[in-house]
Amino acid sequence: MTRAANADHEPFLYDAWYVAGWATDLKPGERIGRTFLNQPIVLFRTASGDVGALEDRCCHRAMQLSHGHVEGEILRCTYHGLEFGTDGICSRIPAQEKIPKTACVRSYPLVEQDAMLWIWMGDPSKADAERIPSHHYHNDPKWAWRGAHFPVNGNWELLVDNLMDLSHLPYIHPNTIGGNPELHFKTKTETTKLPNGVKVERRMPASVPPPTYIDAKGFKGLVDRWQEIEFMPVMIRIHTGACDVDTGAYEGKRDHGFSMLGFHGITPETERTTHYFWSMATNILDGDIPDVVFEQTARTFKEDQEVLELQQVRMEADPNRPLIDIASDVGGRQARQLIRKLIRAQHEEEAREVA
Ligand code: FES
Ligand SMILES: [Fe+2]
Repeated sequence: MTRAANADHEPFLYDAWYVAGWATDLKPGERIGRTFLNQPIVLFRTASGDVGALEDRCCHRAMQLSHGHVEGEILRCTYHGLEFGTDGICSRIPAQEKIPKTACVRSYPLVEQDAMLWIWMGDPSKADAERIPSHHYHNDPKWAWRGAHFPVNGNWELLVDNLMDLSHLPYIHPNTIGGNPELHFKTKTETTKLPNGVKVERRMPASVPPPTYIDAKGFKGLVDRWQEIEFMPVMIRIHTGACDVDTGAYEGKRDHGFSMLGFHGITPETERTTHYFWSMATNILDGDIPDVVFEQTARTFKEDQEVLELQQVRMEADPNRPLIDIASDVGGRQARQLIRKLIRAQHEEEAREVA
């Protein structure tokens, strides 16, 4: 793995848990090749259900292991048949008894939790599964949800900015979750730094509900609406919703209203491309999340994807040209500052270990 010489030029935070996929992406016996933080990885699930993440490069002649086959508990390279367990250790070389100690590939910590696969791309000795952000909504029968994976041709920090600054809603998403621009301008935004994150809260009392809310819940009049964003390296949770006006939304009585709980797993693929794993959960239950909520959410996030890709083209054309910040960028700026702080700490720690 090549690291930037200077922390300011380091594009990624390695020591963090990232979403590598949905648990349902891999059935027993399946494997997928994906790139995370510029590192090609093969993800696979064994017959007994264990999951593994290995470097997608066979130690013999560098064949891509993602072209191999899972059999029982091993992944077999398709070229000369070397077999590897989820620990990356070669357990069999056909027609040869002795297996050299060097016959192994890098194995990455991979944990299945809350219907997602979480990967640790940094120093494996620092991978503490207790630090994986819990997302119980995927297991709670009070919430119905569906997830998706959008490959985005844009840098991952652009997606952080997008999700931390919801003042774009009336412009980019007027047909779904937007609302009128003036309402968004007038809304006070409170930003709080957390020990390992950033929180942004916005309230829109007595406001006109946006189209998705009306379609899903059938609101007839004004609503008390909220937007609560929580950033933790590297995922964002956005709880938005509304209740009929003056029915207790701001005192925490929200069960009778409409809630959308968005999960956003932001996993860099390269400096210029991102895996965007998102899910939407709602408290309106009908066995599954209502189609209207899922379809409108997918449409909304496609609109964001388009924006990020247009930004990326312009930024790549002139990467060092500065951008200006406006008032609504506070949350995004704090999230970026936290990421930079963690990247600097990561570099300093590595420098100490080398010294
Ligand atoms: S390249 Fe994998 S077994 Fe030869
Ligand atoms: Fe958006």
